[in-house]
Amino acid sequence: MGMEEGIKDNASPPPNMRHTNQSRALLPMRVLQVFLLFFVLVLGISVVSMHMIKYLKIQTFAPSTLISPYDERVTLESFIKPPSSVWHFMNDSELLWRASMQPGIYRYPFKRVPKIAFMFLTKGPLPFAPLWERFFEGHESFYSIYVHALPNYRSGFPSSSVFYRRQIPSQPVAWGEMSMCDAERRLLANALLDISNEWFVLLSEACIPVRGFNLVYNYISRSRYSFMGSVDENGPYGRGRYSYAMGPEVRLSQWRKGSQWFEINRGLAVEIVEDIVYYNKFKEFCRPPCYVDEHYFPTMLYIGYSDMLANRTLTWTDWSRGGAHPATFGKADITERFLKKLSRGHGCYYNDQPSQVCYLFARKFAPSALKPLLKLAPKVLGF
Ligand SMILES: *[C@@H]1O[C@H](CO)[C@@H](O)[C@H](O)[C@H]1NC(C)=O
Ligand SMILES: *[C@@H]1O[C@H](CO)[C@@H](O)[C@H](O)[C@H]1NC(C)=O
Repeated sequence: MGMEEGIKDNASPPPNMRHTNQSRALLPMRVLQVFLLFFVLVLGISVVSMHMIKYLKIQTFAPSTLISPYDERVTLESFIKPPSSVWHFMNDSELLWRASMQPGIYRYPFKRVPKIAFMFLTKGPLPFAPLWERFFEGHESFYSIYVHALPNYRSGFPSSSVFYRRQIPSQPVAWGEMSMCDAERRLLANALLDISNEWFVLLSEACIPVRGFNLVYNYISRSRYSFMGSVDENGPYGRGRYSYAMGPEVRLSQWRKGSQWFEINRGLAVEIVEDIVYYNKFKEFCRPPCYVDEHYFPTMLYIGYSDMLANRTLTWTDWSRGGAHPATFGKADITERFLKKLSRGHGCYYNDQPSQVCYLFARKFAPSALKPLLKLAPKVLGF
């Protein structure tokens, strides 16, 4: 049985065994089919994914790798458009250096509307802000504002105010000392960063405008001279403050005195921020009772640029009461007659012609003067 079975086994394998043998023969074919299918699939996937990668590269990688140089968009606007806030993180040496840069080509390849920079030197509050707001209203592209307050002072002007975010980085200021001129140079330097600023007016928190904006703009922009007071005064408060140690750069005959409250053009503003020679002389040899803010700029500009100066200030001040400080006017002083007198009752030269309009600003005013000034301004001052 065993043998038979054995022969049987050899002669014809049982049906299930035959099946297995058939499978054995078919197996390589199946493997080949599956392999081929798999190969085609892989090939297909890789072709598709290669296209996908190309596609994705263009869509997602390309903008950052290929277009990034253009992302920064270095256009002329990025040089000429000032930032909306005047705050920055430059120290004084960096700021003055940056501000001393001037274009060498004076034909501007863009429409430049020259502006007046109004620079407020204050301890903190600006009591006449509401009056100034009214003065500036409607003249947005013709002015810019800079405020130098004590370093810790934070003003609370709303975003609708012309003074909003106009406070510049500052340092403490001592009256009559070089730190005062430093503050003025800092204001000039900040204002010079805006290429559109062409004229620079220094004001205090006790100053008010006594003419309408259009008149102020035309008066300043059409003047051949800058309004820097610069007089050769005899006596202890003039030549008496000169020190021979300032020679040879500053001689006694060149010593000048003028009001701190000036208006100068861009060229002179650059001269002031660039100066090192006179700065060092005045810092060392003009100390109280030599009040450096009354002598440094007037003398320095007289030496280099006397033919560009009007030798008078645009800011009316009443020194008639005598002493080191001028008169301050409060609520009771503000009458129509008083305002007419201070804005019109004078004679001077404007562009070498006699003129009745001599002052555009006035000081000093106490905060109590605000209310009557707001009331009388439309009728008497023209804004
Ligand atoms: C401003 O910073 C630079 C670089 O740190 C320094 O050399 C310079 O002395 C600083 N100037 C002032 C006025 O602090
Ligand atoms: C101001 O004074 C200087 C020097 O004395 C003179 O050259 C200049 O012409 C004066 N300016 C005006 C507008 O008179």
